Amino acid sequence: MTTPVETANWTVGKLLAWTTDYFSRHEMDEPRLSAELLLAHALGCSRMALYTGYEQTPPAAQVEMFRSLVKRRKDHEPVAYLTGKAWFYSMELCVSSDVLIPRPDTETLVEQAITALRNGSSPQPRVLDLCTGSGCAALAIAKNCPTAQIVATDISNAAIAVAQTNAMHVGLSDRVVFRQGDLFDALPPDDAPFDLITANPPYISTGLIDALAPEISRHEPRLALDGGDDGLQIIRRIIERAPEHLAAGGWLLMETAFDQTQQVSELVMRTGRFESPRVILDAARNPRCVVAQFIGSSTAPHSQGA
Ligand SMILES: C[S@@+](CC[C@H](N)C(=O)[O-])C[C@H]1O[C@@H](n2cnc3c(N)ncnc32)[C@H](O)[C@@H]1O
Repeated sequence: MTTPVETANWTVGKLLAWTTDYFSRHEMDEPRLSAELLLAHALGCSRMALYTGYEQTPPAAQVEMFRSLVKRRKDHEPVAYLTGKAWFYSMELCVSSDVLIPRPDTETLVEQAITALRNGSSPQPRVLDLCTGSGCAALAIAKNCPTAQIVATDISNAAIAVAQTNAMHVGLSDRVVFRQGDLFDALPPDDAPFDLITANPPYISTGLIDALAPEISRHEPRLALDGGDDGLQIIRRIIERAPEHLAAGGWLLMETAFDQTQQVSELVMRTGRFESPRVILDAARNPRCVVAQFIGSSTAPHSQGA
């Protein structure tokens, strides 16, 4: 097989055409876009600059770097990990294989959170983002709700480091505090109640992970995916303890798989501590989020059995 680096006079245009065809033949998603993102990354330029320099021949070292990225992509490494960048809610964020790549689906959770905060009465609402990963949801909420004070937690130290870098890059370090720990255990014991809690927790059943696309099953962190035997292990723990950390009238918003929203709504109802939850559809019209308002007092015994 002839690869670009072995052949002279590879212009930007030829590199893009060859790689698009190569990715198509290997049935990779979005072959042209992937080729453009990887070449722009290797050349240290924007995608737009590829088109203005279409006839130029990049230096051999950059073509070699591009070639190695193409090979890794063909081995199913996600483009976002190869470039170290992902877009979420109009923000460019850093990502590494320590964090889930932010998904457009999660923008539904963020939109709901922003709406609830804008309609709320607290002048400086306190928000907790559990399982923050890259910090994408916490930062998008902070950016769009300028008076909100956000605490974002994750069990992974490496994820917290990525999220902190992102907070610095988007200029929100002053309003988003990151804490490492297991769900609510990351919080100090005397922490004040929150007006809103968001979570995009791991919710895939352990047994289903290996059947996912190799981009996910081989490259994204298991810790970010694995929701235990039925996918609801972490969600159950969040629902159980959220009442201890919510102010009366506060909100719990959780992203789930499309086929989990009913079960999750039932778990919320069983606590007797929330108004009837609402299920929110994502942009593709799939059930995606469960949103529930905290009543503030106990009206039924705790029961979290499935
Ligand atoms: C599905 S990812 C979501 C990341 C990010 N919020 C997003 O939407 O892209 C789930 C995150 O939960 C974290 N996590 C897993 N178990 C946890 C636990 N017990 N306590 C806190 N965080 C946990 C993982 O490290 C991972 O970053």
